[in-house]
Amino acid sequence: MVKELSRIARGVRASTTMAIDSLFKQMKAEGQNVIGFAAGEPDFPTPDHIKEAAFQAIRENFTRYTPASGTLELKQAACDRVKADFGVSYTPSQAVVASGAKHVVYLALRALVDPGDEIILPTPAWVSYHELIRMVGGIPVVIHASESEQFKLSPEKLEQAITPRTKAVIFNNPSNPTGMLYDARQLRALAEVCVRYDLYILSDEIYSSLVYDGRDFTCMAALGEEVKRRTILINGVSKSYAMTGWRIGYGLAEPEIARVMSNYVSHSTGSPCAVSQKAALTALTASQEQIRSMREAFQARRDYMVARINAIPDVGCIRPEGAFYVMMNVEKQIGRTIGGFEIGSAEDFATAFLKQGLVAVVPGEGFGAPGFVRWSYAASMENIKEGLDRLERFLAQ
Ligand SMILES: Cc1ncc(COP(=O)(O)O)c(C=O)c1O
Repeated sequence: MVKELSRIARGVRASTTMAIDSLFKQMKAEGQNVIGFAAGEPDFPTPDHIKEAAFQAIRENFTRYTPASGTLELKQAACDRVKADFGVSYTPSQAVVASGAKHVVYLALRALVDPGDEIILPTPAWVSYHELIRMVGGIPVVIHASESEQFKLSPEKLEQAITPRTKAVIFNNPSNPTGMLYDARQLRALAEVCVRYDLYILSDEIYSSLVYDGRDFTCMAALGEEVKRRTILINGVSKSYAMTGWRIGYGLAEPEIARVMSNYVSHSTGSPCAVSQKAALTALTASQEQIRSMREAFQARRDYMVARINAIPDVGCIRPEGAFYVMMNVEKQIGRTIGGFEIGSAEDFATAFLKQGLVAVVPGEGFGAPGFVRWSYAASMENIKEGLDRLERFLAQ
């Protein structure tokens, strides 16, 4: 007899997007002509000047442990970036650099949550939040916003979900998977509820530079001192600088919170990758011009995808304002049989679309959005055109 594994660890579910992803990879390995729209990462390469900083770091033997929560120069660069972009002031003692924004979310939850604490999670939401909350012994309290609500949480619904056990609320603005953006007024109304009920705010702003149509992005911490002192601001280099594989993200918070998070890093990963920190330093401090050209490319792709989807009968989408995802409503497809596949759910739709239509999209169930599938437009325009042609042919059967 061997004793059971940890109850908490056994309770962590594998990502629901994995089933489609492994089928996609299998079909690709078999040589089938499949196209993927499931990836949550820019298709652009990391810009050359950032790669060069990493080569230089290696040449100069910057290859040892760094301070646990990142080098002072990178913490300062993160503070400077947030000051320049959003007008919010932090000092390096308030910064934690870790191995990706995902790791920062984990550390933030670690710092805040005792077993049984409730964390409010507005959905549709990025798949990892729910499991990350459970991994630290917290209880996710899910509040759903429908497509007709623009997938946005209202202050009234937020207030109704609060109990004496509520510790924090997670906001992800702009959102993965919906692409929706809270404007300053909407954000202020939500933050006001958090202040009134003395809640912490986890503000995941990883897509902050990918906002379209000239809209303004509002940083949560810019809403005033009362909001800022209860906010853990999370951002990173993965999406803005096409650096997903480098694994650098950062959190900014009150010094005591940063200290607790930093202690966790020191005993787990030790420190973030030294070479990646040098690359991230260059990303944050050099010219930000490349972000603009990536943003323009994404906006053109979004416009094309939204127009095409809404021209096809019995599917549709609202217009995302940021990030690089479109949530396509497939509710009218449920109950149909397409190419021999019975469609009883968005998951069935995604499986049939992949097997029959040779296109991979992510079913919405894992995001808390049954009846929807998520397309990522971090793909070439050529592939987007072909993917949508395939959708048309698939649905016309
Ligand atoms: C909302 C959101 N937060 C965080 C992350 C993770 O970012 P990183 O690569 O910095 O860990 C992602 C990646 O998909 C995301 O969509």
